[in-house]
Amino acid sequence: MYYQALVNKKHKIKEDMFQDCVLITTKNVDDEDVEIEQKTYDAYCKLKKVLDEKENIKIGILSGYRSIEEQQKVYDEIERKYGTSYAEAIVAPVGKSEHHTGLCIDLSIEKEGAFLIDNNELMKEKETYKKIVPYLSQFGFILRYPEGKEKITKYPYEPWHIRYLGESLAQKLYEEEKTLEEYYENLTGVLVIDKEKDMTSRDVVNIVSRYFYTKKVGHTGTLDPLATGILVITIGKATKISELLTASYKEYIATVKLGLETDTLDITGKVLKEESVKENLEIVKVLKEFPRNYLQEVPIYSAVKVKGKKLYEYARKKEEVILPKKEVTIKELELLEETSTTFTFRTVVSKGTYIRSLIRDIAENLKTPATMLELRRVKQGNFSLENSYTLDELKSGQATLLSLEQSLSNYQSIIVDKKTEIKVKNGQKLARGQKKDGIYLILNEEKKLLAIYKTEKEELVAWKVLTTPHC
Ligand code: DAL
Ligand code: ZN
Repeated sequence: MYYQALVNKKHKIKEDMFQDCVLITTKNVDDEDVEIEQKTYDAYCKLKKVLDEKENIKIGILSGYRSIEEQQKVYDEIERKYGTSYAEAIVAPVGKSEHHTGLCIDLSIEKEGAFLIDNNELMKEKETYKKIVPYLSQFGFILRYPEGKEKITKYPYEPWHIRYLGESLAQKLYEEEKTLEEYYENLTGVLVIDKEKDMTSRDVVNIVSRYFYTKKVGHTGTLDPLATGILVITIGKATKISELLTASYKEYIATVKLGLETDTLDITGKVLKEESVKENLEIVKVLKEFPRNYLQEVPIYSAVKVKGKKLYEYARKKEEVILPKKEVTIKELELLEETSTTFTFRTVVSKGTYIRSLIRDIAENLKTPATMLELRRVKQGNFSLENSYTLDELKSGQATLLSLEQSLSNYQSIIVDKKTEIKVKNGQKLARGQKKDGIYLILNEEKKLLAIYKTEKEELVAWKVLTTPHC
């Protein structure tokens, strides 16, 4: 159930996001049955109580969940009562109404002992509705079609239509005075996903793109379908700086199957050699004595290019190719578990190290065939499993993005004054002073990231400007 779903004139409802939606049946102000999503209804009851106690405002439900047929009925009724142009402006096209989600409620207000139902009468209560707005976000609601944002929401001001999003997003939008459209349009940040097995990194990007309504989604450091764990997803402006997020060291936990050699160097490949596992393998000793820096041969089943062609293409076509070697650093390597046919180790390796190849090289030292059975990335620079989300958590709207400032906190930063801020926004060079070689985050006085600069001779030059220039 995706509480943060966007449904508007551009985005029709994606039914699969609401498959597990539980609707509660209650009564509307006309004493007819009305359905509302359960968490939304709970939040509404709390809001109703507080408004009554604190403001002496009595609210009731005009409308909640609507099926496709019901939305058409609403349109027909509004058209009959108020005319075609009003109906066209205020009623969402069938399939594109938030009311199909069960997450919104049209609120009525009680006046002189009776709930108002006529739109013109409701509009006259604008002042009362305005008193409700500050209470909404603490119960997870936003006013979905506010005054002044008509061009963005594409609907006239509706003081009665509230939308449940969950408390954290509702509070964020209220504080930043943003509509849901503005939130998704300007979305920038980093999402750490705990990838599940049998999914490509691209599959994860596609899901994130769908749930965050943006095509500006990328990832750093690919994880093969077999592997699980940390996949750092970049959204919006974060896609411009993905190389800064691909940490120099990564931590993995890998399980090795002994007695088996495959062409892909992992369990998904074709078996090339199989033999019974020798007893008394000196795994601890081999890991301890394994070189910390060495030239590692890139696996043939990889996307590394040789003479403009990916290595796996050579493999598929059974063409001869000399596999390139890359200098790698194995910072940490320790045995965690051992069975008669497998062992599990933890390792911290430099960027570009293939764990499959590392296993092949360890196997060589063990003098036994071996292949990778399981792989889990548990750390990538700043990002660890503690700040990661599974795709199920993402799909229920629990995943929050890390800001660029949070994601790049391991870099040095320079805070600039208002005058220099303008220079930075225009990508102008800055004086380097005594700053040592490297990359610098340029922040304004409010600690917002403006740009990333690099040292070059006596100057600091713009590498990526992340804000729009000043005119
Ligand atoms: N009045 C709102 C936009 C709807 O029909 O969904
Ligand atoms: Zn509504």
